Amino acid sequence: MSQILQAVRGMNDILSDEAEAWDAFEEIVRDWLRAYGYRPIRMPLVEPTPLFKRAIGEVTDIVEKEMYSFVDALNGDELTLRPEGTASCVRAVIQHKLLHAGPQRLYYHGPMYRHERPQKGRYRQFHQIGVEALGHAGPDIDAELILMGARLWDDLALHDLRLELNSLGSAAERAAHRGALVDYLQARHEQLDDDGRRRLHSNPLRILDTKNPELQALVEAAPKLIDYLGEESLAHFDAVQRVLKDAGIAFSINPRLVRGLDYYNRTVFEWVTDSLGAQGTVCAGGRYDGLVEQLGGKPAPAAGFAIGVERVLALWQAGGGGGERVVPDAYLVHVGDAAGRLAFRVAEALRGAGLDVLMHCGGGSFKSQMKKADASGAEIALLIGEDEAAAGEVSLKPLRGGEQRRVAVDRLVEAMMDEILQVDGDDGGV
Ligand code: HAM
Repeated sequence: MSQILQAVRGMNDILSDEAEAWDAFEEIVRDWLRAYGYRPIRMPLVEPTPLFKRAIGEVTDIVEKEMYSFVDALNGDELTLRPEGTASCVRAVIQHKLLHAGPQRLYYHGPMYRHERPQKGRYRQFHQIGVEALGHAGPDIDAELILMGARLWDDLALHDLRLELNSLGSAAERAAHRGALVDYLQARHEQLDDDGRRRLHSNPLRILDTKNPELQALVEAAPKLIDYLGEESLAHFDAVQRVLKDAGIAFSINPRLVRGLDYYNRTVFEWVTDSLGAQGTVCAGGRYDGLVEQLGGKPAPAAGFAIGVERVLALWQAGGGGGERVVPDAYLVHVGDAAGRLAFRVAEALRGAGLDVLMHCGGGSFKSQMKKADASGAEIALLIGEDEAAAGEVSLKPLRGGEQRRVAVDRLVEAMMDEILQVDGDDGGV
């Protein structure tokens, strides 16, 4: 026997029970995005490698060690499976000149790829819902992006998420802070670990994000960026905070929140939970005013965030979300040739009327088909035997209590609708 092939490590199949929860989640998310005026955009999964190097930054974990990059064997192009969506979205906005029509509120969802060490909540293929607002300079959009998150958590009944906020200021302010930070770290060179020494000149800000417990005290006492922010950046940050306070959204300012991608400036934020172990950030983002220009577009401000779908789903499901099984309205049982032919007609007529019908395929006795009908979760079995076929009728059998009755084929849609209304009524529905 040949060896059974397995999926790539860290890239998961999402089987039907789980995939139905994803569908239910995505429906909620779509309504939520519409409520804020966001429109969909779909970008390719593969992009030119230089796009990510330029956007995310050469000296970042993602670009240095996590990208699935390859050379197209047919033409030598350097390509990468997208590790995130912001770079692609901005590329598409520039390429199609979308900002000529004014500011844009866009969203995308789909798989992203990072070659990380797989563990709970961290995968090599994972999914994001990304939200990008382009062309808005003011703090109002930053605040709205954060309010959006809060509303989604509310819609999903997730109550243990906390918001961390920081401002990374402008490029000039970061440069001043960086100078002071490098001086500070340089003076303590011998206390740094290998990663820290390597990053001292290439990306000292990332040292502040170290997980190494031995560096915590050093990092705690390091010069803080907030002390280097100028008037405008401070006013912007204050305005964001004011809206959050007005809206009653609790947050804490985390001066060490620097994010793992280089394109951010000013507001950055993360929604974090303690219920998922080490991978507690379920949603993250911020302002990235320089990126459009950096990727060749006319300068335009922008801000956005991305939700880690697997992580939010894990929380939602732990709280009982997404557990409802999707069941057909009817399971269609049929025995005999004439019954089989009628069954096709009946099933298509019902589907044409908007009903979900699971038609039995593969033959078998009434008894065995009825077992399948029961297992399908349908409320109703529709039975067609020789008698029914000859009479142009169908037996309608409620599976969770109620009388079986025969209905003429051309009255079936109506009878099914009555039955469904009654079932919904019994369930307390409308
Ligand atoms: P990010 O922080 O790299 O930001 O990713 C956003 C979220 O994606 C994370 O908070 C996490 O929930 C999820 N995530 C990241 N890596 C993994 C992984 N390996 N497995 C499971 N989930 C993961 C960005 O990607 C930015 N593009 C966000 C953004 C949009 N900023 C502005 N606009």
